[in-house]
Amino acid sequence: MIIIFTGTPGTGKTTLAIELAKKTGIPYLDVNIVIQECNLRESYDKKNKTYIVDEKKLSKVLTEIIKKTKNLIIDSHLSHYVPAKHVDYCIATKTDLKVLKKRLEQRKYPKNKIKENLEAETFDICLVDALELKHKVIQIDTTKNSIKKCLEMIQHGISKNKR
Ligand SMILES: Nc1ncnc2c1ncn2[C@@H]1O[C@H](COP(=O)(O)OP(=O)(O)OP(=O)(O)O)[C@@H](O)[C@H]1O
Ligand SMILES: [Mg+2]
Repeated sequence: MIIIFTGTPGTGKTTLAIELAKKTGIPYLDVNIVIQECNLRESYDKKNKTYIVDEKKLSKVLTEIIKKTKNLIIDSHLSHYVPAKHVDYCIATKTDLKVLKKRLEQRKYPKNKIKENLEAETFDICLVDALELKHKVIQIDTTKNSIKKCLEMIQHGISKNKR
């Protein structure tokens, strides 16, 4: 089973993806390592202290990885660019803006980066893109639900929606 995690930074993808991998035994893929190893960084955004990634190239590389494996959990806010036909479930994490702001401030992100991420969350950019790209989306709100509860909701969503 191929499961991707998408969502605005700070909404809980990595936390939940790693826990789901532990619980199910499905291998976890850290896309940041793929980006580094395959040199997919296009440019550096000085203002936001972040790298711009070529999402088309990334989606090609991820598709090649998926084709070689049966089970994988992919963790990245760019993961939904992988064509839906290669993906079984797309978990889209979300968080209320106040809580997300706190999480991003704790990370000491630059003000502008926090603002942009909060805007992305306001407009559900990742969710809307994932739905437009025809993924089978399971939305998980990490604002008030515990990690344990979120995992139960993910597993429930998967068993309810078996292809
Ligand atoms: N129910 C929950 N599920 C996931 N994370 C939670 C939850 N409740 C609180 N958190 C906290 O929210 C933060 C989420 O950070 P995490 O690194 O998982 O986000 P991310 O979406 O992977 O961000 P990035 O895109 O920058 O990698 C963590 O500090 C985590 O402990
Ligand atoms: Mg992460």
